[in-house]
Amino acid sequence: MPQVKRISMSLEEDLLRRFNRQVSRQGYPTRSEAIKALMRQSLIEGEWKGDQEVAGAITIVYDHHRRGLAKRVQEIQHHFVPVIASTQHIHLDHHNCLEVVVVKGRAGRIQELATALRSIKGVKHNALVMTTAGRGID
Ligand code: NI
Repeated sequence: MPQVKRISMSLEEDLLRRFNRQVSRQGYPTRSEAIKALMRQSLIEGEWKGDQEVAGAITIVYDHHRRGLAKRVQEIQHHFVPVIASTQHIHLDHHNCLEVVVVKGRAGRIQELATALRSIKGVKHNALVMTTAGRGID
């Protein structure tokens, strides 16, 4: 169990009031938890910018009837095997497929994969969730 330190801080009343409202809207149990979440988010952004070992998920939606598209999605993933932990394919309806690619590895390489998938013509939506591999974050 890591040692807990108490800090105090000075800030403008209006900023604190607005933040307190946001904390309850977003469902954090306490203001401390909300501040910790912001601090961790900042650390995670640093991991990604610093090309560190990270984790995340890439989602894409595409029409598998479109010629060559599904094949291209597979080909690209085969070029990025070391950073792909798993891929889940969900047939959304007659046309649309959702693919969730869970990734873990160097941030730069993962972003290359996300860019490659995003640049396939016919991909209707794409998103990259950037999170941490857990090292250095308590
Ligand atoms: Ni499908």
